[in-house]
Amino acid sequence: MIQQVMIKEVKEWIYAAAEKIRASIDAELSIAQKSGRTDLVTNIDQETQAFLIGKIKERYPKDRILAEEEGYSELDSLQGRVWIIDPIDGTLNFVLERENFCIMIGFYENGIGQLGFIYDVMQDELFWGGKGLGVYKNEAALLPPANLTLSEGLLGMNAYMYGKNIHSAWEIGHESMGVRVSGCAGLEIIAMLKGNHIGYLSNLSPWDYAPGLVLLEEFGFKYAGINGQNLRFSGREYFLAATPKAFDTIQEKYLNV
Ligand code: IPD
Ligand code: CA
Ligand code: CA
Repeated sequence: MIQQVMIKEVKEWIYAAAEKIRASIDAELSIAQKSGRTDLVTNIDQETQAFLIGKIKERYPKDRILAEEEGYSELDSLQGRVWIIDPIDGTLNFVLERENFCIMIGFYENGIGQLGFIYDVMQDELFWGGKGLGVYKNEAALLPPANLTLSEGLLGMNAYMYGKNIHSAWEIGHESMGVRVSGCAGLEIIAMLKGNHIGYLSNLSPWDYAPGLVLLEEFGFKYAGINGQNLRFSGREYFLAATPKAFDTIQEKYLNV
């Protein structure tokens, strides 16, 4: 019951945040660089984060928050109730394409993912779900995708890893049916939930994967750090999620060699 109330609230927050973004989609952005020229933050990233954090603090003041932009990007542990937020996932797409970006929110309790939300803002598609609740696209329940092998499906990939052949990314991609690069972790995870991609190999921060992991887990996908270790939920790390068959092949044949 409590979970149902929370789901309804989070959806309302996401839809309200997205409405503000869509209303100003053609407006001039205020853009700053973070670690380099391709690592950007805009006034919309900051405003969306502030809006979502404001809602959480108003409603659940004792909960802790990990979020990408300033002031919230570090948390010592996942103990207790923790919200993990990427206000705009795919900021470069947002700046240069004005589409192909997501709002993402995860809710964890003592390190266990309970609820996950990935909203493709311009397509108006909300992928959400929770532990034991299933996975939904808007109001429709989705069926878990088939457990395809690496050679049977498309693989989402981080462009830099593929280009530099980091962790055998090129060889792994070559064994798949083909590599796809969207520039948005949320869209890559959506592609897996829809059964369009068999996996995703990348280099991510916790807010890039935490919301989606709840949904991937619900659908029986496997995920881990690059050598099969538990994800740290702190700082950037190499990341692999895939169907069980593709995951095992990638780990055994290419990563743990
Ligand atoms: C980025 C995107 C991108 C991934 C990067 C992320 P941001 O998130 O998800 O696809 O390759 O590692 O940082 O910065 O646009 O929220
Ligand atoms: Ca992100
Ligand atoms: Ca972001």
